[in-house]
Amino acid sequence: MPGTSVIGLQWGDEAKGKIVDLLAEQFQVAIVVRYQGGANAGHTVVIGRETYKLHQIPSGILTPGVMNLITPGVVFNPAVVLDEIAGLTGRGIPVADRLLISPRVHVVFPWHIAEDRALNTDKIVGESIGTTLRGIGPCYRDKYGRLAAIRLGDLVSQHFRERIEQVVAFKRRALEGYREALTAEDLDAELIYRTYRDYGAQLAPMIGDTTTYLLDAVEADRHVLYEGAQGSLLDIDHGTFPFVTSSNSSGVGVSAGAGVPGRWITKVYGVAKAYTTRVGGGPFPTEQDNPTGHQIRELGREYGTTTGRPRRCGWFDAVAVRYTARLSGVDGLALMMLDVVSHLPEIRVCVAYELDGERITHVPSQIEDLRRVVPVYETWPGWQQDVSQMTRLEQLPAGARRLIARISELVGVPVEILSVGPARSQTILDLPPAAR
Ligand code: GDP
Ligand code: IMO
Ligand code: MG
Repeated sequence: MPGTSVIGLQWGDEAKGKIVDLLAEQFQVAIVVRYQGGANAGHTVVIGRETYKLHQIPSGILTPGVMNLITPGVVFNPAVVLDEIAGLTGRGIPVADRLLISPRVHVVFPWHIAEDRALNTDKIVGESIGTTLRGIGPCYRDKYGRLAAIRLGDLVSQHFRERIEQVVAFKRRALEGYREALTAEDLDAELIYRTYRDYGAQLAPMIGDTTTYLLDAVEADRHVLYEGAQGSLLDIDHGTFPFVTSSNSSGVGVSAGAGVPGRWITKVYGVAKAYTTRVGGGPFPTEQDNPTGHQIRELGREYGTTTGRPRRCGWFDAVAVRYTARLSGVDGLALMMLDVVSHLPEIRVCVAYELDGERITHVPSQIEDLRRVVPVYETWPGWQQDVSQMTRLEQLPAGARRLIARISELVGVPVEILSVGPARSQTILDLPPAAR
């Protein structure tokens, strides 16, 4: 049985949620795993008339019979998860027996969110990172720093009160400089102890050893789907640092975050839009901060799932996607939002960058260089036809098929899934080799 991962190849919001839902439903997946990131993610899944927005719980929860794991690489916000559980249960989706959360996940506390808020207005790197304000960076920093970290297993341990008191005393000293960003409740040890102990008690039936569960599953040949959060260009080690998130969001993060050897991952889908979006700060070479970008935003309804922020929009960047597809080990592309570019009078694809007059086809490691690159574009005539109800490749206009083939060629990976709208039915699956 294959182990399949679904990885975003741009700066997030590529529609990973739609692809995970689709594969979970169509490919007899037994388990879906969220292995990194936290409530910064916002995955939208449209099923019939219903729209679901998930931040922490894997999208596999929407497919009956699928088990869902939240594994050690995640930073975990208990309030968000309890809210999601209540929302799903209220809509008739059972969660309790279908969600297992590792006691090893690190817990996001109010001081992380307060610090995220304080740091976000600070322009230490010249421009704000524009985080989702979910406390992600400070929580991961505490995890790697170890001394002030609290994991989910601690919430249900008898040492929890002592642990909270130690950490709050430490935070009072460490966060002295951010006093105005903190409310009295953010560092009220007794209040936080009672609130989080209660969260722990509610979650206790769902806390369990995901590592053993997962290793047993892969050894028993069950089909596991790994759901990426964020996008590969936001990867802490391989992305556009420092304008990144704080986890390994590219394909190389699956193994460490899930707790599974890489050899169990036999198929990697890379998800990319037929254009590019980015939320928050940082360079974006193909950005169209002009009427074209505005048109893409309105056609694609490009507003954040988590924060509601308008997403920055621009052309497809084949330099960046080729890099992230190779890094993530992608062997099949899911090309999304073909319906959106189908309305544009012309479509551009960035095939190379120019840096100081020299043509390059790699993503520079230094942010100052990435800021200075000038995209080299190929321009394609638009076909301006509604493709959103098309279900077979042959129905697509010739121009659309040529663009798909060119994107495959530039990225070096066949397009295996094409998406022409948010719904499950608006998908063209398993394209024949001629289309690749
Ligand atoms: P994720 O974070 O990668 O899961 O992506 P988001 O859910 O944040 O954003 C993707 C958005 O695009 C969602 O609102 C989806 O419902 C929507 N969507 C998915 N596929 C398509 C598509 O092919 N066309 C259009 N127009 N929208 C799509
Ligand atoms: P999904 O899973 C798009 C961006 C933020 C910011 C940077 C750091 O829905 O694709 P963080 O809060 O993680 O410290 O913010 O990363 N970012 C995302 N952008 N989609 C996401 O998740 C994102 N998660 C974080 O906008 O630029
Ligand atoms: Mg999203």
